[in-house]
Amino acid sequence: MNASIHRAAAGRRLVSEKAGRFTESVIREMTRLAMKHGAVNLAQGFPDFAAPAEIKRAAQEAIAADINQYAITWGARDLREAIAEQFQRAQGMTVDPERQITVCCGSTEAMIASLLAVLDPGDEVVIFEPFYENYGPDAILSGAAPRFVRLRPGTGPAGSWGFDGGELAAAFSARTRAIIVNTPNNPTGKVFTREELEFISDLCVRHDALAITDEIYEHILYDGARHISLASLEGMGDRTITINGMSKTYSVTGWRVGWAIAAPQLTDAIRKVHDFLTVGAAAPLQAAGAVALRLPVSYYEQLAAGYAKRREVALGFLEAAGFRCYRPAGAYYIMTDISGFGFSDDVSFSRFLIEDVGVAVVPGSSFYQDAASGAQQVRFTFCKTPQTLAAAADRLSLLPQKLAARN
Ligand SMILES: Cc1ncc(COP(=O)(O)O)c(C=O)c1O
Repeated sequence: MNASIHRAAAGRRLVSEKAGRFTESVIREMTRLAMKHGAVNLAQGFPDFAAPAEIKRAAQEAIAADINQYAITWGARDLREAIAEQFQRAQGMTVDPERQITVCCGSTEAMIASLLAVLDPGDEVVIFEPFYENYGPDAILSGAAPRFVRLRPGTGPAGSWGFDGGELAAAFSARTRAIIVNTPNNPTGKVFTREELEFISDLCVRHDALAITDEIYEHILYDGARHISLASLEGMGDRTITINGMSKTYSVTGWRVGWAIAAPQLTDAIRKVHDFLTVGAAAPLQAAGAVALRLPVSYYEQLAAGYAKRREVALGFLEAAGFRCYRPAGAYYIMTDISGFGFSDDVSFSRFLIEDVGVAVVPGSSFYQDAASGAQQVRFTFCKTPQTLAAAADRLSLLPQKLAARN
């Protein structure tokens, strides 16, 4: 870190101690590098294909109908009702859209607003590792200390990534205020089973802790995997904040519409934080969101089937190029093991892949608190068109040759 950035000439601090404790997003940096080198971007998880026509039309119509001013700060009523209906259909949970839902600028804002609403300095928050990179800075910004618990490949149910129950239990203490659970999981593709979620909920109840769940990939599941919301488990309804959003389910990551579902008392606090952070999400896109959340079941079936095909294609070309792949049960990423390629670390391998092979990935270290833990992993996304995947496959087919030329 460049000390001069943090200190003006007179020695006065220029940026906060908090802001100095984390770096910019590695994932978004990879996207910029991919653009610079003309690489196929299998780094950042945004679809490069069209969003459903009916929801684009709904957004256009909302603007034409002058839904162009601030929506109610915690979300347009119609969208909140659609969110409550969907939660009821999917999880059998009844929530009051008037008192339990806060619409935010993406699930990213829903997560930070929730953490700011419930955490105090000195609190601890348990986070499974590898983790979606936002959770680390989110914890720091809310003044809490993260306690990481490792997910390890091949140790969970049916060979999935698993956690050690003893390790998880040991991470909980009197200081634990919350645990963050992301299922289906980025980057591992793990879908937490009912038994695993019950283990987590027992710990939450025993330690009077909250669960904050990131369920943004809930509709992207493979091989019959089922998504279970932690909130639906006994004793968890009032102690879970369920976070979700439109980005992944409707292929609109740039719309920035997400939400948090929680008990009224928690929602009051989340709404206050959200109001002063952003006031509200884009009003016409919230109107389109209400249309999106009422799409027929066939939409979700097609979404999952489309991703299942892409997953097979991506696994095929990655394995052919020599990557050891951890097969995902949900979400649209493949974590891979690169130890067979002889690189000292994931960042130098990722640079080589972008600059010499022309494919962008995310270095595994960005998902771990200690860079060494991810030094032999990189993550690919496959939320791309068949053409993009074919271009990546072509380029990766040259990997063995490029590796040989390098040695
Ligand atoms: C686990 C997870 N949560 C949240 C997000 C961001 O969601 P949003 O676009 O709703 O802010 C992502 C995006 O990649 C993600 O992978």
